[in-house]
Amino acid sequence: MGLGAGAAVFGSRWSRLSAAEAPSGGPLNMAVIPSSGKAVPAVGLGTVNYQGNPDTDDLSQLSNTLEAFHRLGGRILDTSPNYGNSETVLGRLLADLGIRDDMFMATKVDREDRVGGERRMDGSFGRLGGRIDLMQVHNLRGVDVQLEVLQDWKAEGRFKYIGITTHRVSQHADIEHYMRRYPLDFVQVNYSLADRAAADRLLPLAQDRGVAVLVNRPFGKGSLFRAVRDRALPDWAADIDAASWGQVFLKYVIAHPAATIPIPGTSKPHHAEDNAGALYGRLPDAALRAEMERYLDGLSQA
Ligand SMILES: NC(=O)c1ccc[n+]([C@@H]2O[C@H](COP(=O)([O-])OP(=O)(O)OC[C@H]3O[C@@H](n4cnc5c(N)ncnc54)[C@H](OP(=O)(O)O)[C@@H]3O)[C@@H](O)[C@H]2O)c1
Repeated sequence: MGLGAGAAVFGSRWSRLSAAEAPSGGPLNMAVIPSSGKAVPAVGLGTVNYQGNPDTDDLSQLSNTLEAFHRLGGRILDTSPNYGNSETVLGRLLADLGIRDDMFMATKVDREDRVGGERRMDGSFGRLGGRIDLMQVHNLRGVDVQLEVLQDWKAEGRFKYIGITTHRVSQHADIEHYMRRYPLDFVQVNYSLADRAAADRLLPLAQDRGVAVLVNRPFGKGSLFRAVRDRALPDWAADIDAASWGQVFLKYVIAHPAATIPIPGTSKPHHAEDNAGALYGRLPDAALRAEMERYLDGLSQA
């Protein structure tokens, strides 16, 4: 399997593609979805800014970003019907690139009632034009009603995984409540070096209950880049094969012992390439993750 030192630390939560299977640059860091045992590339892509008119606008930058992400091994895409027309844009661009079927597609439902939720999800299938792997209740909206529908649709085989999302610490207690109440495959929460609250209770609970975690805002919505500004990478970055701050921030998230998969948002090809770099090379152990936290905290006190 070509397990590296970092991989050994995290046991069954980890797997790696062999070098022969990986698209380039050696073995790929993978995360195992606990409910199915399926291994997926451990960095996804957030698409909140994938908007425009596919018939009249030049969407080549978005297309090139998706192409770079896919070429370097990325597979998980996160979208929502309330990210403007992101689902339509993704459906069109992925089909044009011929990579739609390769993608693990995660989207969301954001309605209060059952009929409204079903209509919304039917719309997502149409716009995305293919398989939806993971359906999530967006920001817990109508969560009790929608989780009943999601369980029914999962039982009918319409999607394989179900989950709930938030990007706010104020909703973490509710996320915990629903993790205990329903058989969820995924939760999606905010977590980064800049925003570590999820590590107190949610991530350990996800580990205990075998729930995979999509991590939104892994760069604190860009605030981490502003925090480090033009500082050179510390020496320890080389120990985890991180060539950029983006890779440092993503490897911090990936290496949490829960099945954490960051979904950094970008609409730029060079940023997608940079972020995909975190799919490769070594990961920090617990001691280095603590060192990274001290480094970041030191910056905010400087
Ligand atoms: N409640 C929810 O369900 C919820 C809430 C929030 C977000 N999300 C999901 O999570 C995804 C990620 O969150 P986010 O986009 O808000 O925040 P984020 O990923 O923490 O940060 C995005 C910012 O980082 C920049 N960036 C990305 N890669 C970079 C790199 N390699 N170097 C320098 N800058 C880089 C982006 O700029 P460029 O665009 O210029 O690259 C953008 O300004 C969203 O796209 C969405 O899919 C879900």
